[in-house]
Amino acid sequence: MKRTNTCGELRKSDLGKEVCLQGWVRFSRDHGGVAFIDLADRYGITQIVFDPADLPSETDASRISDVMKKFTRESAVSVNGVVRERVEGTADARNPTGEIEVLISDAEILGRSKIPPFEVGDQKEGVLPNEDVRMKYRYLDLRRTEMIEAITIRSRFMHLARQYLESKDFLEVETPILARSTPEGARDFIVPSRVHSGTFYALPQSPQLFKQMLMVGSIDRYYQFARCFRDEDSRKDRQPEFTQLDMEMSFIEEKDIQDVIEGLISFVWDGLYGKKLEVPFPRIGYTEAMERFGSDKPDMRYGLEFVKLTDVVKDVPYEIFQRIMKSGGIVAGINVSAELSGGKIGRNDIDRYINYAKKVGLGGLTWMKIQDGVPTSNITKYFTPEILEGIKNEMKAEEGDILFLVAGPWKSTYEGGGALRKKIAEDLDLVPKDVFQFFWLVDCPMFEVDPVSGKYDAFHHPFVKPLGDIDGKACGGACFDICLNGNELGSGSLRINDPEIQKAVFRKLGKSDEDIEEEFGFFVEALSYGAPPHGGIAIGVDRFITIILGKETIRDVIAFPKNKKAVSLLDNSPAKVPEDKLEELQIMTLSIDDLDFETVEESEEE
Ligand code: AMO
Repeated sequence: MKRTNTCGELRKSDLGKEVCLQGWVRFSRDHGGVAFIDLADRYGITQIVFDPADLPSETDASRISDVMKKFTRESAVSVNGVVRERVEGTADARNPTGEIEVLISDAEILGRSKIPPFEVGDQKEGVLPNEDVRMKYRYLDLRRTEMIEAITIRSRFMHLARQYLESKDFLEVETPILARSTPEGARDFIVPSRVHSGTFYALPQSPQLFKQMLMVGSIDRYYQFARCFRDEDSRKDRQPEFTQLDMEMSFIEEKDIQDVIEGLISFVWDGLYGKKLEVPFPRIGYTEAMERFGSDKPDMRYGLEFVKLTDVVKDVPYEIFQRIMKSGGIVAGINVSAELSGGKIGRNDIDRYINYAKKVGLGGLTWMKIQDGVPTSNITKYFTPEILEGIKNEMKAEEGDILFLVAGPWKSTYEGGGALRKKIAEDLDLVPKDVFQFFWLVDCPMFEVDPVSGKYDAFHHPFVKPLGDIDGKACGGACFDICLNGNELGSGSLRINDPEIQKAVFRKLGKSDEDIEEEFGFFVEALSYGAPPHGGIAIGVDRFITIILGKETIRDVIAFPKNKKAVSLLDNSPAKVPEDKLEELQIMTLSIDDLDFETVEESEEE
């Protein structure tokens, strides 16, 4: 028996055809000796029927019947039969094969299934099996339509991206998995060397240094679907192991990189959805994004923008605000208008938002409601009527509107405010669905300074080209992000191609000349051999697919992901290694308590 058609293929135009279908038994029901089975594969579902009364006379009905008895749910089976029209009134309009069925004349078991731990058939909306069970039996989970769709779109995306980049002269080059550490802000996964005991490779957090060295090596347009490894806590949009569409180009400016990405995403969009995207994508500066939306990856599909109130309240008697402003902090507010909320925000909601504000690192949350034309709340007695009027005007507030005011240091206050903005928007259902808004976050700083230690940290990474004097007060960096619907999809930059500037940046980040030589000597050396001006970007493939498919977590678009505790429940990794192997590597472990892989925390931060 050899498959002639898939389970998603047969139509009314195939009536009378002799076919052989092979797939999995999804559902079966018996109607008085006549068996109806939904046979499924990744292409669709076809109804097959076993009716002893309808078999040709020479057929051994009892043999087929015996085989059919072994057709347990999710067994892999093969059936031969004839395509016929379904009885009137039984067609299934939701299924493309729903007008036909296949009347079985022969059947065979190819692989029998034990009773599956969960129902594979399409789940009622929102009722999925427990995620850990899905992970443990991922091969069964992959049979679900939603998973098949995710895997298919992912493959199509990769194919289309390759097609586009090859047409633009990019070369796909693989870079090492066993290498030296690349600083991307996470911990490394390290791999011991047996040959050189006591030494370790690091799995790449990204191919950053190698792609730059490819530029020195004249490969002036590079790309790779690169596996990256970062030992950081799992989140909805993070995995310890993930895939980047990584690129680098020489002899270019910032806009050239952005043009390629816009071209690529438009090409992919057209290929996936047959729709044109509007390019160029809009650009927003980092400071503006923070001050309007409280985020460097703002969701701009809805309003609720922050308004800076520092000037309006500069003489306010309210002591908390005064203290904050004197130490260089800001005061800003969002207006949750009565029109947006339908007047539905009550005292309980306000208390809930005050608690939420504390949770997201805000010192507190000040609120006012416009009542009888005046901002009113328990603290407005500390404000003068002129200042209250100023706040109302600045925030364009109308009767019934609720104003939330945040105050504190610039960055943490806007970030906390941004989280609150998102929460309110979700609660009020303000986030439009099926709208995809790409944009570039530009004009970023080169460094961030830790407010406590005063230590400098790279805003992106240390290889970004500084724009101006790195010792200047507000040195910019030639770096940018591409964002989609409130998520950072990818980040890129022009790079330093002068070894002396590279060393100066490392020093600014607190590295001694010895550290630089030890950790990055090879790279600085490479920059000393005619490194061309270059730059590039990396797009998170898992994130991209997650967002375009509207999934909750990136685990839903990865064939074999780790769970929230960075564990693969399918193969139970990470696992202990036999003592003799460790000895060979000269590694001693401290006693490990029995690992508890199955219990996962309920809540997961974003
Ligand atoms: P960055 O560290 O910003 O830049 O990573 C680029 C993109 O990769 C995705 N990403 C992740 N996806 C899933 N799980 C993770 N743990 C994870 N970490 C990052 C995000 C992110 O925007 N070398 C630079 C790029 C460059 O400068 O060319 C880099 O790796 O979508």
